[in-house]
Amino acid sequence: MTITRAIIPAAGTGRHLYPITKSQPKEMLPLGRKPAVHLVVEELIEAGLTDLCIVTPRGKRAIADHFSFGTNSDSRGANLTAFPSELLDNLAHIYFVEQPDPKGLGDALLRAKGFVGDEPFAVALGDAVITGVEGSGGLMARMTKTITSTGCDAVIAVREVMRAHVSQYGIVEPVGDHAGKAHFMISDIVEKPPIEEAPSNIAVAGRYIFHPLIFDYLEEIPPGLGGELQLTDAIRRMVHDRESVWAEVMRPGERRFDLGNFLEYSRAFIHFSLNDPEVGLSIKEYLQELISG
Ligand code: G1P
Repeated sequence: MTITRAIIPAAGTGRHLYPITKSQPKEMLPLGRKPAVHLVVEELIEAGLTDLCIVTPRGKRAIADHFSFGTNSDSRGANLTAFPSELLDNLAHIYFVEQPDPKGLGDALLRAKGFVGDEPFAVALGDAVITGVEGSGGLMARMTKTITSTGCDAVIAVREVMRAHVSQYGIVEPVGDHAGKAHFMISDIVEKPPIEEAPSNIAVAGRYIFHPLIFDYLEEIPPGLGGELQLTDAIRRMVHDRESVWAEVMRPGERRFDLGNFLEYSRAFIHFSLNDPEVGLSIKEYLQELISG
């Protein structure tokens, strides 16, 4: 099976990062030289996806502007070389759909239902950047393999987090012993549980592949945590209906960066700046100088 379509939800309020996100989506915050959502688009195109639908918030146009290219050759200035060539050569396409009100991740996906059609599709959260996933053994490729080989209805990328952090994520409950497995079936999933109620410390990492069946569940569920339509609640209902849902474990070289709060964002920015081929070393020296006083 080949997955060609992906939805990139990028319509959160970014309220934990105000005021930098007052007029721009948090997905446009730079990580080194590129906005976060640009890195997510690169990851998906590298994984072979060709049709990407970004869900944007009302009144914040920066993402659509960022990916707007002119058709005449003059507009292909040197600055466009930073964009995936597949986009510039029209081999991959980005579409936009607006989420009128910030009613949650589940609602964001429902906005893009018409884009998806009958085939399984990917979801990549625009504020979660994952590095080290390139190549044919990359995360999305492994997830595609899992949905094909198991015939399941959803695959969710996961990784272990510190127990103290479980209340920041969707947390899955594995079926049986999952130790050392590359993927496993899940028997439950809970959105941001209190530490004492968490079924494990295995967290949803922001990459999913779904059969379109997920939309039936999204249309059925009531608003959940924070009054928002939670994607996790729809997956939970699928699992409870005995639909088969699998988790794909991120490998040690695959690192996830979050823009959820200022500390996480600052860490991510520093990581990407330090890894910049041109100025990374100078930034490292500068940081060392600052720290040693
Ligand atoms: C969302 C999901 C959550 C997941 C997280 C990963 O939460 O609802 O299950 O673990 O993304 O980034 P958010 O961070 O948007 O509140």
